[in-house]
Amino acid sequence: MYSFMNDYSEGAHPRILELLYKSNYEQNIGYGLDVHSEKSREYIRKLIGRQKADIHFIPGGTLTNLTVISALLRPHQCVISADTGHINVHEAGAVEATGHKVVIAASKEGKLYPEAIEAVLKYHSDEHMVLPKMVYISNSTELGTIYSKDELTRIHNVCKEKGLILFLDGARIGNALMSKYNDLTFKDIANLVDVFYIGGTKNGALLGEALVVCNDNLKEDLRYLIKQKGALMAKGFVMGIQFEALFQDDLYFRLAKHANKMAEIITGALTELGYSFYVPPCTNQLFPVVPNHVLEFLAQKFDFYIYKKIDQDSSVIRLVTSWATTQESVDRLIEALPKI
Ligand SMILES: Cc1ncc(COP(=O)(O)O)c(C=O)c1O
Repeated sequence: MYSFMNDYSEGAHPRILELLYKSNYEQNIGYGLDVHSEKSREYIRKLIGRQKADIHFIPGGTLTNLTVISALLRPHQCVISADTGHINVHEAGAVEATGHKVVIAASKEGKLYPEAIEAVLKYHSDEHMVLPKMVYISNSTELGTIYSKDELTRIHNVCKEKGLILFLDGARIGNALMSKYNDLTFKDIANLVDVFYIGGTKNGALLGEALVVCNDNLKEDLRYLIKQKGALMAKGFVMGIQFEALFQDDLYFRLAKHANKMAEIITGALTELGYSFYVPPCTNQLFPVVPNHVLEFLAQKFDFYIYKKIDQDSSVIRLVTSWATTQESVDRLIEALPKI
C-alpha cells in the first residue's frame, strides 16, 4: 500500500535531520530567541526583500491561522474566506472558537476574487452584523490551484481600498511558487499581503510554519498574543534549525519542485489515459475524476482521499505527492491506472 493521501506522511528531509543531530547537544536560548531561529529569519528576510519583517515560528497551520486571525482582529470583526478555505472547512471551528466569525465568499477553483469580497462587504452593512476586517486566502489553495500576480494584485487593491488586512496561508507556498504556471515571487507576495506564512510541515520539515509579518502596524505585541495561544514554543529552536536547513540554500524550493514534478508526471499519464480533472492541476495536489470501479480497484493498492461524488458513476479523488514521493511509486500508480 502506498499513500498519496497527503504531503505530511513522511518524517523530514535528511538535511534537516542532520542539522538537528549536529546541534543536538548545543544549549539554545528558548522561545525562538536562539541563533538558529535568528539565522533562519535572516535568510527569509533576504529572500522576501524585507529587512524589517517580523518572523515567528509556530508549530502548525491551524495554530498559525487562529493565532494570526484572533491577534489582528478586534472582537466584533470577522475574516472573509473562500467557501473552500481551510479555516472554513477543516479547522473544527478553531477561528470561530476565538470569537471571530469566518464569513464565506464564493470561490472559483479554490480561489477568491475581488467581486466576491465586495459582495460580502456590501451585505455587511451595519453594526448589527460582524464587521469584515480581514481577507484570508491560501496559496496554493486547498484545491491545489495558485494565484497569478494579477489575481493577487487585484485582491491586494480591494483590501487596500476597503481597509482590510490581507492574510495569506502559505502551508503550501513552496508548491505554489515552484508551479510551472506561477508568476509570483516571494518578494511579490511580501509586497502584496500584510501577513503570510511559509509552510514547513508540508515541505520537508518535521513540523513548523514561519509566520511573516510585513505590515509594521500589525507587529505590536505579537509575541504576547502568540504566547497566549500556546504557540510560543520553549524549544522554538527546533523549528529555527529546520528553517535554517530549508533556507540556507535552495532546499525549500527543490523539495517543492520535486513534489510538483511527481504530480506533473501523474497528470501527464492521467491525461493520456483519458481522465479529466475537477480543477486544472498545477501543484502537488491533483483532483482527477475517476469512475467508481477504477476507484475501488485503485484503493486496493493505494491510499488517497475521495474528495466528492460527481454522479452515480464517478468521483473526484485527491492525489497528493510530497518532497519524498519516489519515481517508483509514481510509476506503480501509473501502471495501475486503466485507460478510460
Ligand atoms: C492550506 C492549509 N492551511 C492550513 C492547514 C492546517 O495545518 P495543520 O493541520 O498543521 O493545522 C492545512 C492542512 O492541511 C492546509 O492545507
